[in-house]
Amino acid sequence: MTVNKESYWYNTNVASFPSISKDMEADVTIVGGGITGITTAYMLAKENINVVLIEADQLISGTTGHTTAKITAQHGLVYDELIQHFGKEKAKQYYTAQHSALEYIKEIIDRHQISCDFSEEDAYIYTNDPNEVDKINNESFAYQLLGISGSIVNELPIDIPMKLALKMDKQAQFHPVKYLASLINEISKKDNIRIFEQSPAVDIQKSDSGEPTVVTKQGHVIQSKHIVIATHFPFYNMKGLYFARMYAERSHLIAVKAKQKYPGGMYINAEQPTRSVRVTKTDEEEIWLIGGERYRTGNVDKTKEAFQQLESFANQHVEVDAVINQWAAQDLTTTDKIPLIGQLSKSTPNIYVATGYRKWGMTNGTVAAQIITDTILNKENSTAELFSPQRFHGDPDIKKLISMNATTAKHLIGGKLAIPTNDVSSLAEEQATIIEAGLNKVGVYRDESQQLHAVDTTCTHLGCEVKWNTNEQTWDCPCHGSRFSIDGEVLEGPASKALKLYDTSELEER
Ligand SMILES: Cc1cc2nc3c(=O)[nH]c(=O)nc-3n(C[C@H](O)[C@H](O)[C@H](O)COP(=O)(O)OP(=O)(O)OC[C@H]3O[C@@H](n4cnc5c(N)ncnc54)[C@H](O)[C@@H]3O)c2cc1C
Ligand code: FES
Repeated sequence: MTVNKESYWYNTNVASFPSISKDMEADVTIVGGGITGITTAYMLAKENINVVLIEADQLISGTTGHTTAKITAQHGLVYDELIQHFGKEKAKQYYTAQHSALEYIKEIIDRHQISCDFSEEDAYIYTNDPNEVDKINNESFAYQLLGISGSIVNELPIDIPMKLALKMDKQAQFHPVKYLASLINEISKKDNIRIFEQSPAVDIQKSDSGEPTVVTKQGHVIQSKHIVIATHFPFYNMKGLYFARMYAERSHLIAVKAKQKYPGGMYINAEQPTRSVRVTKTDEEEIWLIGGERYRTGNVDKTKEAFQQLESFANQHVEVDAVINQWAAQDLTTTDKIPLIGQLSKSTPNIYVATGYRKWGMTNGTVAAQIITDTILNKENSTAELFSPQRFHGDPDIKKLISMNATTAKHLIGGKLAIPTNDVSSLAEEQATIIEAGLNKVGVYRDESQQLHAVDTTCTHLGCEVKWNTNEQTWDCPCHGSRFSIDGEVLEGPASKALKLYDTSELEER
């Protein structure tokens, strides 16, 4: 059986929309159609706010379409750490925000009778590493202190060995594309919502009246009172504020048909390498989703074996019938592990960002939609301050900032010094190499019909050297996570410009 290299969730139809074809005005422009943008549009639609939502590609084609879609407040082992760094009150606010988001998703599913394979499940974090056992015990104390319903367990319902685990009661999972496709259907019925696909935003400018204006790649402008940047990595980045505060990590997922019945529950381990397990059920079958093998984007040496490692884990713990899908995606982590949600900067109070969900975006994307909607409507939101991008915590931000930016500097300088090869004649099909062309480095890829594709390997964002990702056949940047196709088109930001394309006619002789 050939493995489908698309996300398992793309077995569902999503309504499509035209690209933008004229200048517009709105109360709110939302840029980006993942869980953050669509949920924000849904909340604003209910308040009769006039919204234009633009999406660079297709709705739900970003990380949201490639997620594991556990809807949980169990974000790894995070509560003990939040208490240590920020105190009990803020840790409690973080939990309450996530719990309310889960309840909100449930409420919407009930209200519109959305059929999205939603089920309530207990969430387990377990360990086999003796060094993590204390951390699980500490997290359990944190649950008690914060009033989180859960308990230590010594055995998992699933057949995976472990030393200790912590359960969070009554969390949930769903089919993210079915859920959001229904929200899209709901909002597109409303006169106050206009949606455009294949309409990338490229800039934000000030109009003559002083209102911010989104400029699209097609050259059309949308003038509005408020702009919500829901593009995952903010496409507009005042003074580079966000590049230094987040890093991108890719993770891998496989969808597996198993011979045995799934025992229920959602699982993740505390140590590295991460292993995340859940099931998704249709009327006919159960599909196990197994995820993990996370690496900083651009750390390409390590991605080679990712899918094999996940398959090998599956074979150890599941009677595998077939692996039917495999895919990868990335998410962003902030220096203090709390997302950045709210006003972009003090000087641009009506431009909002929502990013840095640390692979917990089902609840965090919903939290973001609520905070931003409340801010636009001038409503009090008790968690807005916790997530505000204006915050800066000395500890742990500073330590993490130093190590993250040292890594970026290492890639910036190391990438330039790396010695390229000069031979493409021996380049095999579906492989790539880097060669020298004068002062520049050129990434050359040979496709299955023997055609060469050549791009300048200097990332158009801030100039790091992109690296070849064998698994996904893309050029990935280790500095801030931009990704490019074999012909240099931007697949993922923050870069917004394509890599320079080279003429390949003379390369064969080298
Ligand atoms: C492998 C993996 C597993 C995960 N599992 C879970 C999980 O189990 N539970 C959980 O809660 N979270 C999980 N997450 C995290 C979660 O999926 C993400 O945090 C969340 O989907 C991010 O949503 P978003 O709307 O912010 O971004 P996206 O879904 O990426 O949406 C952003 C959209 O903006 C568009 N866009 C970008 N630039 C522009 C532009 N210039 N103009 C217009 N549009 C633009 C993109 O095309 C995209 O459609 C996981 C993440 C990964 C990588
Ligand atoms: S230099 Fe920032 S993403 Fe490449």
